[in-house]
Amino acid sequence: MSEREVVHHDEVPDRFENPGLEPHRHRQSDVDPRAAKRAELQVVGLLLLSILAAIGGVAGYFLFPAGETLGQIRLGNTALGLGLGLGMLGIGLAAVHWAKALMNDTEQIEMRHELRGDDAARAGAVDKLQAGIADANVARRPLIKGALAGALALAPLPFVLPLVGNLTPDWDITRFRYTAWRNKPSGAAGRRLAIDPTNEPIRAADVTIGSAFHVIPQDLGDLPGEDHFLNEKAKAVVLLVRMHPDEMKVSPGREDWSYHGIVAYSKVCTHVGCPVALYEQNTKHLLCPCHQSTFDLADEARVIFGPADRALPQLPISVDEEGYLIAKSDFHEPVGPSFWERLK
Ligand code: FES
Repeated sequence: MSEREVVHHDEVPDRFENPGLEPHRHRQSDVDPRAAKRAELQVVGLLLLSILAAIGGVAGYFLFPAGETLGQIRLGNTALGLGLGLGMLGIGLAAVHWAKALMNDTEQIEMRHELRGDDAARAGAVDKLQAGIADANVARRPLIKGALAGALALAPLPFVLPLVGNLTPDWDITRFRYTAWRNKPSGAAGRRLAIDPTNEPIRAADVTIGSAFHVIPQDLGDLPGEDHFLNEKAKAVVLLVRMHPDEMKVSPGREDWSYHGIVAYSKVCTHVGCPVALYEQNTKHLLCPCHQSTFDLADEARVIFGPADRALPQLPISVDEEGYLIAKSDFHEPVGPSFWERLK
């Protein structure tokens, strides 16, 4: 007998010590054809469950399209997640049940051997693999075969769908050139800056030196020409800080972009778009948590460390007649990763 030879339990030679296992007992499905049929139908049922879950997940994705609210986005994504999870679970349970109840029930003992085999051993492995496939009784159970093929084909669908879906919509790079800040309410000098998420406008007098605010355009998403709230917010979000005007470096042309030391910069990192939010009051440095790009807000948000390639775009601001902060225009250049504006 070669080192790699596999011997059946009943044929184990004397030199193998009997570990004291109970004599082999046949499964119900081995001795009762009706039990085998029942097990087969249970496996098929689990695979059908997987198929239904995948179809349900995809249907839920289309039934609850991303709308105006976070809840609508979550419903669609939850349906996809459930479809994917239940689909995989169905296949897993079916495989386990199939193996336990229907695959050939032969105990085997494999001799210890070196890890690397010779060519003959490898050829033997291929033979054994083929024997294992035959052992799984796939050919004899076409019902399971068909259900398994269907489940394996459909289960990844909830995962693939969002990837494909994101490639096909009307992708328009120019939409990233502009934000809701350029959209003024009629008759107003500019869009008011509002605290996120309360939508309360901010008076310049309420912004003390050293303070920082997470800011969006007031009544975001309400004006004509604006996309839905989350899209507009992702582009327009701003960090508003105040420092002593003597601490600021201001280049020619930007003298009136700030208001008594209050400055506003895009929060979308110019590296790959993470929200920059870690503001260090003493140094006036703003850190992006993703790859540690650091921007100096006292020096027009210039990059002083990290992979970002350009400064954060500045939002020129002023105040209206009631003392509320307003945006005088859109950002002075497109927000976000630098490759966007280079495409056109
Ligand atoms: S996204 Fe900000 S440093 Fe990479």
